[in-house]
Amino acid sequence: MPEKHESEKTKWIKDVEKTLKRFPERKETFHTSSEITVDYLYGTEDANYNLGYPGQYPYLRGIQPTMYRSRLWTMRQYAGFGSASETNKRFRYLLEQGQTGLSVAFDLPTQIGYDSDDVMSEGEVGKVGVAIDTLADMENLLDQIPLDKVSTSMTINAPAAILLCMYIAVGEKQGVSSEKLTGTIQNDILKEYIARGTYIFPPKPSMRLITDIFAYCQEHLPKFNTISISGYHIREAGSNAVQEAAFTIANGMAYVDAAIASGLDVDTFAPRLAFFFNAHNNFFEEIAKFRAARRIWAKIMKEHYEAKEPKSWKLRFHTQTGGSTLTAQQPDNNIVRVTMQALAAVLGGTQSLHTNSRDEALSLPTEESARIALRTQQIIAHESGVADTVDPLGGSYYVEALTDELEAKVMDYLERIKEFGGAVQAIEEGYMQREIHHNAYETQKRIESEEEIIVGLNQFKLEEEVNPDLLKVDEALEKAQINNLHKVRKKRNQEAVDQKLEALRRVAIDEEANLIPYILDAVKAYASIGEICNVLRDEFGEYTGF
Ligand code: 3HC
Repeated sequence: MPEKHESEKTKWIKDVEKTLKRFPERKETFHTSSEITVDYLYGTEDANYNLGYPGQYPYLRGIQPTMYRSRLWTMRQYAGFGSASETNKRFRYLLEQGQTGLSVAFDLPTQIGYDSDDVMSEGEVGKVGVAIDTLADMENLLDQIPLDKVSTSMTINAPAAILLCMYIAVGEKQGVSSEKLTGTIQNDILKEYIARGTYIFPPKPSMRLITDIFAYCQEHLPKFNTISISGYHIREAGSNAVQEAAFTIANGMAYVDAAIASGLDVDTFAPRLAFFFNAHNNFFEEIAKFRAARRIWAKIMKEHYEAKEPKSWKLRFHTQTGGSTLTAQQPDNNIVRVTMQALAAVLGGTQSLHTNSRDEALSLPTEESARIALRTQQIIAHESGVADTVDPLGGSYYVEALTDELEAKVMDYLERIKEFGGAVQAIEEGYMQREIHHNAYETQKRIESEEEIIVGLNQFKLEEEVNPDLLKVDEALEKAQINNLHKVRKKRNQEAVDQKLEALRRVAIDEEANLIPYILDAVKAYASIGEICNVLRDEFGEYTGF
Protein backbone atom coordinates (compact mmCIF):
# COMPACT_ATOMS: atom_id res chain seq x y z
CA MET A 1 0.00 0.00 0.00
CA PRO A 2 2.21 2.84 -1.30
CA GLU A 3 0.20 5.60 0.48
CA LYS A 4 0.60 3.85 3.86
CA HIS A 5 4.28 3.15 3.06
CA GLU A 6 4.76 6.82 2.03
CA SER A 7 3.23 8.11 5.26
CA GLU A 8 5.44 5.76 7.27
CA LYS A 9 8.40 7.10 5.37
CA THR A 10 7.29 10.69 5.83
CA LYS A 11 6.83 9.97 9.53
CA TRP A 12 10.31 8.45 9.65
CA ILE A 13 11.82 11.56 8.04
CA LYS A 14 10.15 13.70 10.66
CA ASP A 15 11.64 11.48 13.38
CA VAL A 16 15.05 11.87 11.78
CA GLU A 17 14.79 15.64 11.73
CA LYS A 18 13.69 15.68 15.35
CA THR A 19 16.48 13.38 16.46
CA LEU A 20 19.15 15.33 14.57
CA LYS A 21 18.27 18.43 16.54
CA ARG A 22 19.32 16.64 19.73
CA PHE A 23 21.95 14.27 18.26
CA PRO A 24 23.58 15.79 15.14
CA GLU A 25 25.40 13.32 12.91
CA ARG A 26 28.90 12.17 13.89
CA LYS A 27 30.30 13.20 10.49
CA GLU A 28 29.48 15.64 7.66
CA THR A 29 29.19 12.74 5.24
CA PHE A 30 29.65 9.02 5.53
CA HIS A 31 31.47 7.33 2.67
CA THR A 32 33.34 4.15 1.84
CA SER A 33 37.02 3.82 0.85
CA SER A 34 35.90 4.33 -2.76
CA GLU A 35 34.18 7.65 -1.95
CA ILE A 36 30.71 6.09 -2.26
CA THR A 37 28.36 8.12 -0.10
CA VAL A 38 26.63 6.02 2.52
CA ASP A 39 22.97 6.97 3.03
CA TYR A 40 21.06 6.84 6.29
CA LEU A 41 19.00 3.90 5.20
CA TYR A 42 18.50 1.62 2.20
CA GLY A 43 15.26 0.12 0.99
CA THR A 44 13.57 -1.73 -1.86
CA GLU A 45 14.02 1.16 -4.31
CA ASP A 46 17.84 1.27 -3.93
CA ALA A 47 19.03 -1.74 -5.91
CA ASN A 48 18.04 -4.33 -8.46
CA TYR A 49 17.15 -7.59 -6.78
CA ASN A 50 17.31 -10.10 -9.61
CA LEU A 51 20.21 -11.78 -7.89
CA GLY A 52 20.20 -15.13 -9.68
CA TYR A 53 21.33 -18.29 -7.91
CA PRO A 54 24.69 -19.44 -6.56
CA GLY A 55 26.55 -21.63 -9.03
CA GLN A 56 24.67 -19.99 -11.90
CA TYR A 57 25.73 -17.19 -14.22
CA PRO A 58 26.58 -14.42 -13.35
CA TYR A 59 27.47 -15.96 -9.95
CA LEU A 60 26.65 -12.89 -7.89
CA ARG A 61 25.72 -15.13 -4.97
CA GLY A 62 28.74 -17.46 -5.31
CA ILE A 63 30.38 -19.74 -7.83
CA GLN A 64 29.15 -23.03 -6.41
CA PRO A 65 25.48 -24.09 -5.98
CA THR A 66 26.07 -25.11 -2.36
CA MET A 67 29.18 -23.08 -1.44
CA TYR A 68 30.36 -23.76 2.13
CA ARG A 69 27.55 -26.16 2.94
CA SER A 70 29.48 -28.74 0.92
CA ARG A 71 33.05 -27.53 1.26
CA LEU A 72 34.46 -24.77 3.42
CA TRP A 73 36.90 -22.33 1.89
CA THR A 74 40.50 -23.51 1.92
CA MET A 75 42.33 -22.28 5.00
CA ARG A 76 45.60 -21.41 3.34
CA GLN A 77 48.12 -19.53 5.50
CA TYR A 78 50.95 -17.76 3.66
CA ALA A 79 54.15 -18.95 5.31
CA GLY A 80 57.86 -19.07 4.69
CA PHE A 81 61.06 -17.85 6.31
CA GLY A 82 64.65 -18.88 6.68
CA SER A 83 65.66 -22.22 5.25
CA ALA A 84 63.55 -24.79 3.41
CA SER A 85 63.68 -27.15 6.39
CA GLU A 86 62.61 -24.37 8.82
CA THR A 87 59.65 -23.56 6.61
CA ASN A 88 58.82 -27.23 6.11
CA LYS A 89 58.44 -27.48 9.92
CA ARG A 90 56.01 -24.53 9.94
CA PHE A 91 54.06 -26.04 7.02
CA ARG A 92 53.68 -29.35 8.83
CA TYR A 93 52.71 -27.56 12.06
CA LEU A 94 49.99 -25.57 10.30
CA LEU A 95 48.68 -28.70 8.53
CA GLU A 96 48.59 -30.51 11.91
CA GLN A 97 46.63 -27.52 13.33
CA GLY A 98 43.97 -27.96 10.64
CA GLN A 99 45.11 -25.75 7.75
CA THR A 100 43.76 -27.21 4.49
CA GLY A 101 46.10 -25.79 1.84
CA LEU A 102 49.74 -24.63 1.59
CA SER A 103 50.93 -21.17 0.59
CA VAL A 104 54.64 -20.53 0.07
CA ALA A 105 56.30 -17.19 0.81
CA PHE A 106 59.69 -16.93 -0.91
CA ASP A 107 62.49 -14.58 0.10
CA LEU A 108 63.28 -11.61 -2.15
CA PRO A 109 66.40 -13.11 -3.78
CA THR A 110 64.25 -16.06 -4.95
CA GLN A 111 61.46 -13.74 -6.09
CA ILE A 112 63.86 -11.60 -8.14
CA GLY A 113 65.90 -14.50 -9.51
CA TYR A 114 69.16 -14.22 -7.57
CA ASP A 115 71.00 -17.08 -5.89
CA SER A 116 71.67 -16.78 -2.16
CA ASP A 117 75.37 -16.22 -2.88
CA ASP A 118 74.71 -13.35 -5.29
CA VAL A 119 75.93 -9.99 -4.02
CA MET A 120 72.40 -8.67 -4.61
CA SER A 121 71.09 -11.17 -2.03
CA GLU A 122 73.22 -10.00 0.85
CA GLY A 123 71.14 -9.50 4.01
CA GLU A 124 67.93 -10.71 2.37
CA VAL A 125 68.43 -14.50 2.34
CA GLY A 126 65.47 -16.14 4.12
CA LYS A 127 64.25 -12.76 5.45
CA VAL A 128 60.72 -12.24 4.08
CA GLY A 129 60.24 -15.80 2.92
CA VAL A 130 62.00 -19.10 2.34
CA ALA A 131 65.31 -19.19 0.42
CA ILE A 132 65.08 -21.49 -2.62
CA ASP A 133 68.15 -21.82 -4.85
CA THR A 134 67.86 -25.26 -6.46
CA LEU A 135 65.63 -28.31 -6.60
CA ALA A 136 67.43 -29.58 -3.49
CA ASP A 137 65.84 -26.77 -1.46
CA MET A 138 62.40 -27.52 -2.93
CA GLU A 139 62.78 -31.18 -1.91
CA ASN A 140 63.49 -30.06 1.66
CA LEU A 141 60.63 -27.54 1.58
CA LEU A 142 58.09 -30.23 0.62
CA ASP A 143 59.56 -33.08 2.65
CA GLN A 144 56.79 -35.40 4.03
CA ILE A 145 54.11 -33.32 2.30
CA PRO A 146 52.04 -35.52 -0.06
CA LEU A 147 51.66 -33.51 -3.29
CA ASP A 148 48.80 -35.73 -4.47
CA LYS A 149 46.77 -34.63 -1.45
CA VAL A 150 47.81 -31.06 -0.62
CA SER A 151 47.27 -28.09 -2.94
CA THR A 152 50.10 -25.54 -2.84
CA SER A 153 50.03 -21.88 -3.73
CA MET A 154 53.37 -20.31 -4.66
CA THR A 155 53.70 -16.54 -4.45
CA ILE A 156 56.20 -16.17 -7.21
CA ASN A 157 55.98 -14.07 -10.33
CA ALA A 158 58.95 -13.26 -12.57
CA PRO A 159 60.64 -16.68 -12.00
CA ALA A 160 57.27 -18.48 -11.64
CA ALA A 161 58.10 -20.97 -14.40
CA ILE A 162 61.21 -22.11 -12.51
CA LEU A 163 59.42 -22.74 -9.20
CA LEU A 164 56.58 -24.49 -11.03
CA CYS A 165 59.15 -26.79 -12.66
CA MET A 166 60.75 -27.49 -9.27
CA TYR A 167 57.31 -28.39 -7.94
CA ILE A 168 56.72 -30.77 -10.88
CA ALA A 169 60.15 -32.33 -10.30
CA VAL A 170 59.45 -32.90 -6.58
CA GLY A 171 56.09 -34.43 -7.51
CA GLU A 172 57.85 -36.85 -9.87
CA LYS A 173 60.29 -37.82 -7.10
CA GLN A 174 57.25 -38.57 -4.89
CA GLY A 175 55.74 -40.64 -7.72
CA VAL A 176 53.00 -38.04 -8.30
CA SER A 177 52.54 -37.28 -11.99
CA SER A 178 52.13 -33.65 -12.99
CA GLU A 179 48.52 -34.40 -14.05
CA LYS A 180 47.64 -34.95 -10.39
CA LEU A 181 49.28 -31.81 -8.96
CA THR A 182 46.92 -29.17 -7.54
CA GLY A 183 47.75 -25.64 -6.53
CA THR A 184 48.34 -22.16 -7.89
CA ILE A 185 51.27 -20.19 -9.18
CA GLN A 186 50.83 -16.42 -8.73
CA ASN A 187 52.51 -15.67 -12.08
CA ASP A 188 50.98 -12.16 -12.26
CA ILE A 189 53.64 -9.75 -13.54
CA LEU A 190 51.40 -6.76 -14.27
CA LYS A 191 50.65 -6.09 -10.60
CA GLU A 192 54.39 -6.36 -9.97
CA TYR A 193 54.92 -3.46 -12.37
CA ILE A 194 52.05 -1.55 -10.73
CA ALA A 195 52.52 -2.23 -7.04
CA ARG A 196 54.78 -4.99 -5.76
CA GLY A 197 58.02 -4.59 -7.69
CA THR A 198 59.42 -8.11 -7.97
CA TYR A 199 59.69 -8.05 -11.76
CA ILE A 200 62.84 -9.01 -13.72
CA PHE A 201 62.15 -8.94 -17.44
CA PRO A 202 60.40 -6.42 -19.72
CA PRO A 203 56.63 -6.81 -20.33
CA LYS A 204 56.84 -8.72 -23.64
CA PRO A 205 59.02 -11.65 -22.54
CA SER A 206 57.26 -11.63 -19.17
CA MET A 207 53.87 -12.09 -20.86
CA ARG A 208 55.39 -14.84 -23.00
CA LEU A 209 56.58 -16.75 -19.93
CA ILE A 210 53.06 -16.40 -18.48
CA THR A 211 51.29 -17.72 -21.56
CA ASP A 212 53.91 -20.49 -21.91
CA ILE A 213 52.82 -21.59 -18.42
CA PHE A 214 49.15 -21.47 -19.51
CA ALA A 215 49.93 -23.63 -22.57
CA TYR A 216 52.13 -26.10 -20.69
CA CYS A 217 49.69 -26.52 -17.78
CA GLN A 218 46.64 -27.12 -19.93
CA GLU A 219 48.51 -30.10 -21.36
CA HIS A 220 50.46 -31.40 -18.37
CA LEU A 221 48.97 -29.90 -15.19
CA PRO A 222 45.21 -29.76 -15.88
CA LYS A 223 44.35 -29.32 -12.18
CA PHE A 224 46.82 -26.52 -11.49
CA ASN A 225 45.70 -22.87 -11.44
CA THR A 226 48.07 -21.06 -13.78
CA ILE A 227 47.81 -17.53 -12.41
CA SER A 228 46.48 -15.69 -9.38
CA ILE A 229 45.49 -12.30 -10.79
CA SER A 230 46.09 -10.17 -7.76
CA GLY A 231 44.38 -7.12 -6.40
CA TYR A 232 45.84 -7.66 -2.93
CA HIS A 233 49.05 -5.75 -3.53
CA ILE A 234 47.29 -3.01 -5.48
CA ARG A 235 45.20 -2.40 -2.37
CA GLU A 236 48.26 -2.66 -0.12
CA ALA A 237 49.92 0.01 -2.27
CA GLY A 238 47.05 2.36 -1.34
CA SER A 239 44.22 1.88 -3.82
CA ASN A 240 40.56 1.92 -2.75
CA ALA A 241 38.16 -0.99 -3.24
CA VAL A 242 36.93 0.11 -6.67
CA GLN A 243 40.48 0.60 -7.99
CA GLU A 244 41.54 -2.76 -6.56
CA ALA A 245 38.74 -4.56 -8.39
CA ALA A 246 39.03 -2.50 -11.58
CA PHE A 247 42.81 -2.75 -12.03
CA THR A 248 42.78 -6.46 -11.21
CA ILE A 249 40.04 -7.19 -13.73
CA ALA A 250 41.81 -5.03 -16.33
CA ASN A 251 45.00 -7.04 -15.74
CA GLY A 252 42.96 -10.24 -16.05
CA MET A 253 41.69 -9.08 -19.45
CA ALA A 254 45.27 -8.34 -20.55
CA TYR A 255 46.25 -11.94 -19.70
CA VAL A 256 43.26 -13.32 -21.58
CA ASP A 257 44.14 -11.16 -24.60
CA ALA A 258 47.78 -12.31 -24.47
CA ALA A 259 46.79 -15.97 -24.21
CA ILE A 260 44.37 -15.71 -27.14
CA ALA A 261 47.01 -13.82 -29.16
CA SER A 262 49.44 -16.68 -28.44
CA GLY A 263 46.99 -19.05 -30.12
CA LEU A 264 45.19 -20.54 -27.11
CA ASP A 265 41.42 -21.09 -27.12
CA VAL A 266 39.75 -19.13 -24.32
CA ASP A 267 37.87 -22.16 -22.96
CA THR A 268 41.04 -24.18 -22.63
CA PHE A 269 42.91 -21.81 -20.30
CA ALA A 270 40.23 -19.56 -18.71
CA PRO A 271 38.91 -22.22 -16.25
CA ARG A 272 42.33 -22.23 -14.58
CA LEU A 273 42.66 -18.46 -14.17
CA ALA A 274 42.30 -17.51 -10.50
CA PHE A 275 42.17 -14.24 -8.58
CA PHE A 276 43.47 -12.88 -5.29
CA PHE A 277 41.88 -9.99 -3.40
CA ASN A 278 42.41 -8.02 -0.22
CA ALA A 279 39.88 -7.95 2.62
CA HIS A 280 40.12 -4.46 4.00
CA ASN A 281 38.39 -2.64 6.85
CA ASN A 282 35.09 -1.38 5.44
CA PHE A 283 33.07 -4.54 6.05
CA PHE A 284 30.12 -4.04 3.69
CA GLU A 285 32.19 -2.42 0.95
CA GLU A 286 34.51 -5.43 0.88
CA ILE A 287 31.61 -7.86 0.63
CA ALA A 288 30.08 -5.78 -2.16
CA LYS A 289 33.48 -5.64 -3.92
CA PHE A 290 33.79 -9.44 -4.07
CA ARG A 291 30.21 -9.83 -5.33
CA ALA A 292 30.52 -7.09 -7.94
CA ALA A 293 33.87 -8.48 -9.19
CA ARG A 294 32.30 -11.93 -9.68
CA ARG A 295 29.39 -10.55 -11.68
CA ILE A 296 31.62 -8.28 -13.80
CA TRP A 297 34.10 -11.03 -14.65
CA ALA A 298 31.32 -13.46 -15.59
CA LYS A 299 29.82 -10.92 -18.01
CA ILE A 300 33.23 -10.04 -19.52
CA MET A 301 34.12 -13.70 -20.10
CA LYS A 302 30.70 -14.67 -21.51
CA GLU A 303 29.86 -11.57 -23.51
CA HIS A 304 33.17 -9.92 -24.45
CA TYR A 305 35.32 -13.05 -24.93
CA GLU A 306 32.36 -15.28 -25.87
CA ALA A 307 33.70 -18.10 -23.70
CA LYS A 308 31.28 -21.03 -23.87
CA GLU A 309 32.34 -23.01 -20.80
CA PRO A 310 30.66 -21.96 -17.50
CA LYS A 311 33.99 -22.74 -15.78
CA SER A 312 35.47 -19.94 -17.91
CA TRP A 313 32.96 -17.45 -16.47
CA LYS A 314 33.60 -18.17 -12.78
CA LEU A 315 35.79 -15.77 -10.82
CA ARG A 316 37.45 -18.00 -8.21
CA PHE A 317 39.48 -16.10 -5.66
CA HIS A 318 41.74 -16.27 -2.63
CA THR A 319 41.59 -13.52 -0.03
CA GLN A 320 44.21 -12.25 2.37
CA THR A 321 43.15 -9.90 5.15
CA GLY A 322 44.62 -6.43 4.74
CA GLY A 323 48.25 -6.36 5.88
CA SER A 324 48.36 -2.58 5.67
CA THR A 325 45.50 -2.29 8.19
CA LEU A 326 47.56 -3.97 10.92
CA THR A 327 49.01 -1.63 13.52
CA ALA A 328 52.31 -2.03 15.33
CA GLN A 329 50.59 -0.36 18.29
CA GLN A 330 48.53 -2.63 20.59
CA PRO A 331 49.07 -5.66 18.26
CA ASP A 332 46.34 -7.72 19.90
CA ASN A 333 43.80 -5.28 18.41
CA ASN A 334 44.79 -6.78 15.07
CA ILE A 335 43.05 -10.03 15.99
CA VAL A 336 39.77 -8.09 15.96
CA ARG A 337 40.54 -6.40 12.63
CA VAL A 338 41.51 -9.70 11.02
CA THR A 339 38.35 -11.38 12.32
CA MET A 340 36.10 -8.80 10.70
CA GLN A 341 38.08 -8.81 7.47
CA ALA A 342 37.97 -12.61 7.35
CA LEU A 343 34.22 -12.51 7.95
CA ALA A 344 33.84 -10.11 5.03
CA ALA A 345 35.80 -12.50 2.78
CA VAL A 346 33.58 -15.42 3.78
CA LEU A 347 30.35 -13.42 3.37
CA GLY A 348 31.76 -12.34 0.00
CA GLY A 349 32.20 -15.96 -1.12
CA THR A 350 35.97 -16.51 -1.11
CA GLN A 351 37.36 -19.90 -2.16
CA SER A 352 40.53 -19.70 -0.11
CA LEU A 353 41.61 -17.47 2.77
CA HIS A 354 44.74 -16.30 4.59
CA THR A 355 44.26 -14.51 7.90
CA ASN A 356 47.09 -12.22 8.99
CA SER A 357 48.74 -12.66 12.34
CA ARG A 358 48.52 -9.99 15.02
CA ASP A 359 52.29 -9.30 14.98
CA GLU A 360 52.82 -8.92 11.22
CA ALA A 361 53.15 -5.15 11.38
CA LEU A 362 56.29 -5.88 13.39
CA SER A 363 57.79 -9.05 11.92
CA LEU A 364 57.01 -12.41 10.37
CA PRO A 365 54.53 -14.21 12.63
CA THR A 366 55.48 -16.34 15.58
CA GLU A 367 54.02 -19.84 15.71
CA GLU A 368 51.52 -18.72 18.37
CA SER A 369 50.34 -15.73 16.33
CA ALA A 370 50.01 -17.87 13.20
CA ARG A 371 47.95 -20.37 15.18
CA ILE A 372 45.56 -17.65 16.45
CA ALA A 373 45.17 -16.45 12.87
CA LEU A 374 44.22 -19.95 11.74
CA ARG A 375 41.89 -20.43 14.72
CA THR A 376 40.10 -17.24 13.66
CA GLN A 377 39.10 -18.94 10.42
CA GLN A 378 38.11 -22.14 12.22
CA ILE A 379 35.88 -20.24 14.66
CA ILE A 380 34.17 -18.38 11.82
CA ALA A 381 33.71 -21.68 9.98
CA HIS A 382 32.48 -23.84 12.84
CA GLU A 383 30.97 -21.54 15.47
CA SER A 384 29.48 -18.49 13.77
CA GLY A 385 26.93 -20.21 11.53
CA VAL A 386 27.73 -17.89 8.58
CA ALA A 387 28.90 -20.86 6.47
CA ASP A 388 25.60 -22.70 6.94
CA THR A 389 23.62 -20.96 4.21
CA VAL A 390 24.69 -19.62 0.84
CA ASP A 391 25.30 -15.86 0.49
CA PRO A 392 23.51 -14.91 3.74
CA LEU A 393 23.73 -11.18 2.98
CA GLY A 394 22.20 -11.59 -0.50
CA GLY A 395 19.18 -9.32 -0.85
CA SER A 396 20.38 -6.93 1.86
CA TYR A 397 19.23 -3.47 0.78
CA TYR A 398 22.61 -1.94 1.58
CA VAL A 399 24.81 -4.76 0.25
CA GLU A 400 22.97 -4.94 -3.07
CA ALA A 401 22.92 -1.15 -3.47
CA LEU A 402 26.65 -1.02 -2.71
CA THR A 403 27.33 -3.93 -5.07
CA ASP A 404 25.54 -2.13 -7.90
CA GLU A 405 27.33 1.13 -7.19
CA LEU A 406 30.76 -0.51 -6.98
CA GLU A 407 30.07 -2.36 -10.21
CA ALA A 408 29.21 0.90 -12.00
CA LYS A 409 32.41 2.57 -10.76
CA VAL A 410 34.55 -0.41 -11.72
CA MET A 411 33.03 -0.35 -15.22
CA ASP A 412 33.90 3.37 -15.50
CA TYR A 413 37.54 2.56 -14.75
CA LEU A 414 37.55 -0.31 -17.24
CA GLU A 415 36.29 2.10 -19.91
CA ARG A 416 39.11 4.55 -19.10
CA ILE A 417 41.71 1.78 -19.21
CA LYS A 418 40.31 0.62 -22.54
CA GLU A 419 40.96 4.14 -23.89
CA PHE A 420 44.66 3.63 -23.10
CA GLY A 421 44.55 0.44 -25.16
CA GLY A 422 44.30 -1.90 -22.17
CA ALA A 423 46.12 -2.57 -18.90
CA VAL A 424 49.66 -2.93 -20.26
CA GLN A 425 49.49 0.45 -21.98
CA ALA A 426 47.79 2.08 -18.97
CA ILE A 427 50.60 0.76 -16.76
CA GLU A 428 53.27 1.95 -19.20
CA GLU A 429 51.64 5.40 -19.05
CA GLY A 430 51.67 5.22 -15.24
CA TYR A 431 47.90 5.71 -15.09
CA MET A 432 47.08 3.02 -12.53
CA GLN A 433 50.09 3.94 -10.43
CA ARG A 434 49.02 7.60 -10.32
CA GLU A 435 45.48 6.69 -9.30
CA ILE A 436 46.81 4.49 -6.50
CA HIS A 437 49.34 7.02 -5.25
CA HIS A 438 46.69 9.76 -5.20
CA ASN A 439 44.32 7.61 -3.18
CA ALA A 440 47.12 6.57 -0.81
CA TYR A 441 47.99 10.23 -0.23
CA GLU A 442 44.36 11.23 0.44
CA THR A 443 43.96 8.28 2.84
CA GLN A 444 47.12 9.19 4.74
CA LYS A 445 45.91 12.79 5.08
CA ARG A 446 42.60 11.58 6.53
CA ILE A 447 44.44 9.42 9.08
CA GLU A 448 46.81 12.24 10.07
CA SER A 449 43.94 14.69 10.47
CA GLU A 450 42.11 12.02 12.50
CA GLU A 451 39.17 12.28 10.11
CA GLU A 452 39.79 8.55 9.78
CA ILE A 453 40.26 6.94 13.20
CA ILE A 454 42.69 4.02 13.51
CA VAL A 455 42.29 2.67 17.04
CA GLY A 456 45.56 2.68 18.96
CA LEU A 457 47.32 4.64 16.23
CA ASN A 458 45.73 8.10 16.12
CA GLN A 459 43.17 7.71 18.91
CA PHE A 460 42.82 5.46 22.00
CA LYS A 461 46.61 5.30 22.26
CA LEU A 462 48.64 3.84 25.12
CA GLU A 463 51.32 5.79 26.95
CA GLU A 464 53.57 2.73 26.99
CA GLU A 465 53.60 0.07 24.26
CA VAL A 466 54.58 -3.40 25.45
CA ASN A 467 56.64 -5.14 22.75
CA PRO A 468 55.46 -8.74 22.16
CA ASP A 469 57.87 -11.66 21.53
CA LEU A 470 58.77 -11.56 17.86
CA LEU A 471 60.07 -14.14 15.42
CA LYS A 472 63.78 -13.70 14.72
CA VAL A 473 65.32 -15.16 11.56
CA ASP A 474 68.73 -16.58 12.49
CA GLU A 475 71.43 -14.38 10.90
CA ALA A 476 73.61 -17.50 10.48
CA LEU A 477 71.06 -18.81 8.01
CA GLU A 478 72.49 -16.85 5.09
CA LYS A 479 75.88 -18.48 5.47
CA ALA A 480 74.39 -21.95 5.88
CA GLN A 481 72.20 -21.46 2.80
CA ILE A 482 75.21 -20.39 0.74
CA ASN A 483 77.20 -23.43 1.94
CA ASN A 484 74.33 -25.72 0.96
CA LEU A 485 74.16 -24.12 -2.48
CA HIS A 486 77.91 -24.61 -2.97
CA LYS A 487 77.58 -28.27 -1.93
CA VAL A 488 74.84 -28.81 -4.55
CA ARG A 489 76.96 -27.13 -7.20
CA LYS A 490 79.89 -29.41 -6.34
CA LYS A 491 77.78 -32.57 -6.37
CA ARG A 492 75.77 -32.04 -9.56
CA ASN A 493 76.83 -32.98 -13.10
CA GLN A 494 78.12 -29.59 -14.24
CA GLU A 495 78.30 -30.63 -17.90
CA ALA A 496 74.63 -31.54 -17.88
CA VAL A 497 73.80 -28.20 -16.26
CA ASP A 498 75.77 -26.32 -18.90
CA GLN A 499 74.02 -28.25 -21.69
CA LYS A 500 70.55 -27.57 -20.30
CA LEU A 501 71.28 -23.88 -19.81
CA GLU A 502 72.63 -23.65 -23.37
CA ALA A 503 69.51 -25.37 -24.74
CA LEU A 504 67.38 -22.86 -22.82
CA ARG A 505 69.37 -19.96 -24.22
CA ARG A 506 68.77 -21.21 -27.78
CA VAL A 507 64.98 -21.38 -27.40
CA ALA A 508 64.72 -18.15 -25.43
CA ILE A 509 65.31 -16.27 -28.69
CA ASP A 510 62.75 -18.40 -30.56
CA GLU A 511 59.42 -16.76 -29.69
CA GLU A 512 57.48 -19.74 -31.08
CA ALA A 513 59.07 -22.16 -28.60
CA ASN A 514 57.53 -22.96 -25.20
CA LEU A 515 60.26 -22.45 -22.59
CA ILE A 516 58.78 -24.61 -19.84
CA PRO A 517 60.17 -28.02 -20.95
CA TYR A 518 63.69 -26.50 -21.19
CA ILE A 519 63.40 -24.87 -17.77
CA LEU A 520 62.19 -28.21 -16.38
CA ASP A 521 65.27 -29.97 -17.79
CA ALA A 522 67.56 -27.35 -16.26
CA VAL A 523 65.82 -27.59 -12.88
CA LYS A 524 66.09 -31.37 -12.84
CA ALA A 525 69.84 -31.05 -13.44
CA TYR A 526 69.95 -28.84 -10.30
CA ALA A 527 70.62 -25.64 -12.16
CA SER A 528 69.91 -22.78 -9.77
CA ILE A 529 67.31 -20.03 -10.03
CA GLY A 530 70.06 -17.45 -10.49
CA GLU A 531 71.75 -19.44 -13.28
CA ILE A 532 68.46 -19.90 -15.14
CA CYS A 533 67.38 -16.28 -14.67
CA ASN A 534 70.79 -15.03 -15.80
CA VAL A 535 70.39 -16.90 -19.10
CA LEU A 536 66.99 -15.23 -19.54
CA ARG A 537 68.40 -11.85 -18.46
CA ASP A 538 71.03 -12.17 -21.19
CA GLU A 539 68.37 -12.86 -23.82
CA PHE A 540 65.41 -10.76 -22.56
CA GLY A 541 67.17 -7.92 -20.82
CA GLU A 542 66.15 -6.58 -17.42
CA TYR A 543 63.35 -4.14 -16.76
CA THR A 544 64.25 -1.03 -14.74
CA GLY A 545 60.71 0.31 -14.38
CA PHE A 546 58.38 2.55 -16.36
N1 3HC B 1 30.76 -27.49 -4.60
C1 3HC B 1 31.41 -28.15 -5.60
N2 3HC B 1 32.75 -28.15 -5.79
C2 3HC B 1 33.47 -27.44 -4.93
C3 3HC B 1 32.89 -26.72 -3.86
C4 3HC B 1 31.48 -26.77 -3.72
N3 3HC B 1 30.84 -26.12 -2.74
N4 3HC B 1 33.87 -26.11 -3.19
C5 3HC B 1 35.01 -26.42 -3.81
N5 3HC B 1 34.79 -27.24 -4.85
C6 3HC B 1 35.77 -27.82 -5.74
C7 3HC B 1 36.37 -26.78 -6.67
O1 3HC B 1 35.63 -26.64 -7.87
C8 3HC B 1 37.76 -27.37 -6.90
O2 3HC B 1 37.68 -28.40 -7.86
P1 3HC B 1 38.31 -28.16 -9.32
O3 3HC B 1 39.73 -27.70 -9.12
O4 3HC B 1 38.20 -29.46 -9.98
O5 3HC B 1 37.44 -27.07 -9.89
C9 3HC B 1 38.10 -28.04 -5.57
O6 3HC B 1 36.84 -28.28 -4.92
C10 3HC B 1 38.96 -27.13 -4.70
O7 3HC B 1 38.22 -25.99 -4.42
P2 3HC B 1 38.76 -24.50 -4.86
O8 3HC B 1 39.41 -24.53 -6.17
O9 3HC B 1 37.62 -23.57 -4.68
O10 3HC B 1 39.81 -24.19 -3.69
P3 3HC B 1 41.39 -24.11 -3.79
O11 3HC B 1 41.85 -23.64 -2.47
O12 3HC B 1 41.96 -25.35 -4.32
O13 3HC B 1 41.67 -22.96 -4.90
C11 3HC B 1 41.79 -20.76 -5.73
C12 3HC B 1 41.29 -21.64 -4.62
C13 3HC B 1 41.48 -19.31 -5.39
C14 3HC B 1 41.10 -21.15 -7.04
C15 3HC B 1 43.30 -20.97 -5.91
O14 3HC B 1 43.78 -20.18 -6.95
C16 3HC B 1 44.09 -20.69 -4.66
O15 3HC B 1 44.21 -21.53 -3.79
N6 3HC B 1 44.68 -19.50 -4.57
C17 3HC B 1 45.53 -19.20 -3.43
C18 3HC B 1 46.47 -18.10 -3.74
C19 3HC B 1 47.27 -17.72 -2.53
O16 3HC B 1 47.26 -18.38 -1.52
N7 3HC B 1 47.99 -16.62 -2.64
C20 3HC B 1 48.78 -16.11 -1.55
C21 3HC B 1 49.52 -14.91 -1.99
S1 3HC B 1 50.35 -14.18 -0.65
C22 3HC B 1 50.77 -12.70 -1.34
O17 3HC B 1 50.96 -12.52 -2.53
C23 3HC B 1 50.84 -11.56 -0.40
C24 3HC B 1 52.23 -11.28 -0.05
O18 3HC B 1 52.89 -10.74 -1.17
C25 3HC B 1 52.25 -10.32 1.05
